[in-house]
Amino acid sequence: PPKALGEKILADVPGELLTELGRLQEMFIVDKDKLKLITQRFVSELEKGLTDDAGDIPMNVTWSFGYPTGHETGSYITIDMGGTNVRVCNVVLTDGKGEVDIVQEKFVMPEGLKKSNAETLWDFLADCTAEFLGKHSLDTKEALPLAFTFSFPVTQPHIRSGILQRWTKDFDVDGVEGEDVVPQLEKAFKKRNLPVEIVAVVNDTTGTLIASAYKDPEMRIGSIFGTGVNAAYMEVCGAIPKIKDHGLPPDLEVAINTEYGAFDNSRKVLSRTPFDRSIDENSSRPGQQLYEKMVAGLYIGELLRLVLLDLHERNHMFKEQDVSLLRQKNSINSLFLSTVEEDKSDALHDISFMFNKALNIEPVDYELKVTRFLTELIATRSARLYSCGIAAVSKKKGLETCHVGVDGSVFNKYAHFRNRAAQALKEILDWPEGSPDPISIYSAEDGSGVGAALIAALALQRTEKEAS
Ligand code: GLC
Repeated sequence: PPKALGEKILADVPGELLTELGRLQEMFIVDKDKLKLITQRFVSELEKGLTDDAGDIPMNVTWSFGYPTGHETGSYITIDMGGTNVRVCNVVLTDGKGEVDIVQEKFVMPEGLKKSNAETLWDFLADCTAEFLGKHSLDTKEALPLAFTFSFPVTQPHIRSGILQRWTKDFDVDGVEGEDVVPQLEKAFKKRNLPVEIVAVVNDTTGTLIASAYKDPEMRIGSIFGTGVNAAYMEVCGAIPKIKDHGLPPDLEVAINTEYGAFDNSRKVLSRTPFDRSIDENSSRPGQQLYEKMVAGLYIGELLRLVLLDLHERNHMFKEQDVSLLRQKNSINSLFLSTVEEDKSDALHDISFMFNKALNIEPVDYELKVTRFLTELIATRSARLYSCGIAAVSKKKGLETCHVGVDGSVFNKYAHFRNRAAQALKEILDWPEGSPDPISIYSAEDGSGVGAALIAALALQRTEKEAS
């Protein structure tokens, strides 16, 4: 077996399984040269996405112009449709940085909503909004401006619209793809006579960028590393050939939602394992979001599950155990992985407990150690591949130093990710060991609340200026 494996895995692992682990390790390791190759390809795909001949990465123009100044004011309703929750806020911005008041409510999204139809989805969002407005006595006569964080790839003819290109993150709601989500949601608001008016459709990455830059002027990239992965950054209009006909000043900055989860859909550079292929084939949109499917929180649990199941089927693990739960899609999630890696006990109690609780399996000692090893392999690959996207955006912009604001469940709850990602960035960008990181990753500010409200404020300011 390879050296790294020999150091980690212990004497009681049967020889045949050890050989299997060596094979898996080769499959999942992404070395420095490969990281660089991926990043290089990534940069050229980002560039291509800004032109008329669309490549893999959409590079969606968001019509959110420039950074906030700190002088934005007003009261805004924001709605964020996440994978498990809907968050509705009232955000009040006052003139002066950091002076933000937020009132918020979270609503649990019913399981079936992700695979329902347009009307059911929008009715649910409108009901949440109605409840929020009622509870906080905001159901006044005057229409309140509303920013809608809809974290999916949309084509935006302008900031108040969003035509869904395709569902991602395993959503599959009928009747929305190819449609503008704004009139659909507004119809549901009207049915309930809600005094709100959608003034901006926002991606979570753009909200993250703007909220983070509001607090820290060195922020240049907003990124999400959670259920999905993606990033947004500011591009000057002069560097976006696909909007040249709009006659915008070449040095005017506009936020680009890269939608780079779609990187390598054309399968040119990422080395996909049979497990990655299986995840893709069994997803609701095969062939889409291929980079995201190797990196993001929605899929890393599945990867571990498929690897463990494969080892079981070839008679290397969980012999004589009932693996019916392990056979169920999504029975391992990203929280399982972080618990596995954070178990500090010699006997690996937490891992054992997770196996009992989530999978009804009683693992023997070496199976716990093997699980830890596999988890490290999968999570490390995810963090290293994640860094290629960040490195590519900073290279594309020619940034030598900058701050990156990151939000999302994987980043926030998985202690090892930040260090692994930072290490990979060092390798890609050839920084000398021991020097301070020129590109530093930080926890982002509230993108879908404060960020979305700021975007709405900036959009309204712009409309007023245009009108006068
Ligand atoms: C998916 C979505 C994208 C979003 C990301 C993180 O990639 O397509 O819009 O930003 O997930 O939530």
